[in-house]
Amino acid sequence: MDEVKRIYELRELLERYNYEYYVLNNSSVSDAEFDRLMQELQLLEASHPEIDSSSSPTKRVGGAVQEQFEKITHKRLMLSLANAFNEDDLRAFDERIKEASHLNKIQYVCELKIDGLAMAVEYKGGKINYGATRGDGTVGEVVTDNVKTISCIPLNVKEKEVFEVRGEVYMSKKVLNSLNEKRKLTNEPLFANARNAAAGSIRQLDSSIAASRHLDNFMYYLVNASDFNLSYHHETLEWMKNKGFTVNPHYRICNGIDEVLEYIAEYTLKRPDLEYDIDGIVIKVDDLSLYDTIGYTAKTPKWAIAYKFPPEEVVTKLKDIIFTVGRTGKITPNAVLEPVRVAGSLVQRATLHNEDFVIDKGIMIGDYVVLRKAGDVIPEVVRPVKERRDGSEKPFVMTKTCPICGMKVIRRGDEAAHYCDNPNCDKRNIEKIIHFASRGAMNIEGLGDKIIEEFYNLGVLKTVSDIYDLESSKEKIIELDGFGLKSINNILSSIEKSKNNSLEKLLFGLGIREIGAKGAKILARHYGSLDKLMNASVDELLNIKDIGPIAAMAIRDYFADEENQNTIFYLGLKGLNFDYFGSETPIDKEHIFYGKTIVLTGTLSSLKRNKAQKILEDEF
Ligand code: IVH
Repeated sequence: MDEVKRIYELRELLERYNYEYYVLNNSSVSDAEFDRLMQELQLLEASHPEIDSSSSPTKRVGGAVQEQFEKITHKRLMLSLANAFNEDDLRAFDERIKEASHLNKIQYVCELKIDGLAMAVEYKGGKINYGATRGDGTVGEVVTDNVKTISCIPLNVKEKEVFEVRGEVYMSKKVLNSLNEKRKLTNEPLFANARNAAAGSIRQLDSSIAASRHLDNFMYYLVNASDFNLSYHHETLEWMKNKGFTVNPHYRICNGIDEVLEYIAEYTLKRPDLEYDIDGIVIKVDDLSLYDTIGYTAKTPKWAIAYKFPPEEVVTKLKDIIFTVGRTGKITPNAVLEPVRVAGSLVQRATLHNEDFVIDKGIMIGDYVVLRKAGDVIPEVVRPVKERRDGSEKPFVMTKTCPICGMKVIRRGDEAAHYCDNPNCDKRNIEKIIHFASRGAMNIEGLGDKIIEEFYNLGVLKTVSDIYDLESSKEKIIELDGFGLKSINNILSSIEKSKNNSLEKLLFGLGIREIGAKGAKILARHYGSLDKLMNASVDELLNIKDIGPIAAMAIRDYFADEENQNTIFYLGLKGLNFDYFGSETPIDKEHIFYGKTIVLTGTLSSLKRNKAQKILEDEF
């Protein structure tokens, strides 16, 4: 047979077998036969490079390696969901929807909230055009090669029109367990949960690694449903299913909020038996024509909500309490725990915040403690199980000295925290640089925590301003284990790029006490330049809405400090941007208020005018 014809035949055959196996869970060929056909196709494609193979099943095994991921602006914002934690929250949601839509009873679709990461895939002319992560909702990373390795995402669809589907990429419990088993054998760090494992796998630059992770996917949203004359969310789910996508089979149409509550009760019980982790239930209005009437906030649709399961509680032994030092010198007691799984993650450490927290809870070293994940993210020690004490427990004593530099620790005024009193404590210095380079601050890619610590110990990175002098230490760095010219050059180019960051990112990165990301934004917007802020008096600062006396004093103290002044002077010399160049929040061109001027006059029926103004300002 003609080789070219055979290529097309094999592609179709393999995609069909793939669909049967991964989507329908019903295979009509043996694994061996499948592998044989795949090999035949690989060989034929290798001798016919003139035939486009971008949508060939051979792409499922990966192979393409990228330098870095391209960025893409989502055509429509990838929104997140507001949360509900109990029946009252859900009934209030239902009331809001009924009021906005002038209906007595709402038809909802309930779906499982899969614990993975959101993915957008656009198809054009029947083929994958791109696959992208959510990123910050506006801009995501293009991970098309890796998306193609997910066997249940079709490479070709019988639909030539452009459309975008969104869903959750996840790793099943079984795949996570076997991956962690293998990593244990090779001494690689274990993935704490399925979500981290899925996110880490989809961000692999080498797509054959992504392929080896056996990711899965459920699609839950068709962006341009109106282009296909679909009127209900459940119709979009069926539409996607018919096009060959995997839609979670447990979705259900619920008539009214009482049926929603029944669904939640049912799946709270079924949750442990599922093959993948879920962290809640998503409730969506079924009738798409109501979406615009019900509306959106800046980050979430108002026609959907995520019910989050209550935090799971487990009991484990608190083996020890150790102390860590943060960038402000704050000393935090941490519980060292007998490793335990809670809400899908392996937990071995938990913060105990400060001395008062430990004393108030009556925690002793050696206690069994109740542990839970606050918001299912941060592990939290709830209380000791005093009934299980056997007399071997030891009382907790707050350290008198810094565990890093040995300097005495102090407690200021009525603050609960203790601080290392040494402004030059190594750990503080390292943490300051880590904070400066971190994602929320200057976002210097490649300059991660471990590397900063290594550079610090090497003596080439002692302060934040040294970051902008690293070029001169290239020779020394190359001698470090695992550092090639390429990795250093990558770091240096991210450092160079960071010089153009917005003023708020820089301000946040400087780590002024009491000034978080939001405070930095307010200050940048208010003063417009670092020079103006540096010269601001406490009185002036106090005039800014949202800046209180403690923050105002902290800002004053920071800029009055000679060492900080030197740092800023040096950063200026190195060419860092000190000016505010407008809002950092990307503009949503699809927003109903885009391009409009809003005037508030007269008396509003339910709000004071200044309150309405604040709501509008907060949204944009
Ligand atoms: S709907 C506008 N449905 O939950 C529609 N999200 O907390 C927004 N998620 O970012 C999403 N399962 O990553 C939707 N069945 C489901 C979901 C789901 C998991 C994730 C998704 C989203 C996050 C919101």
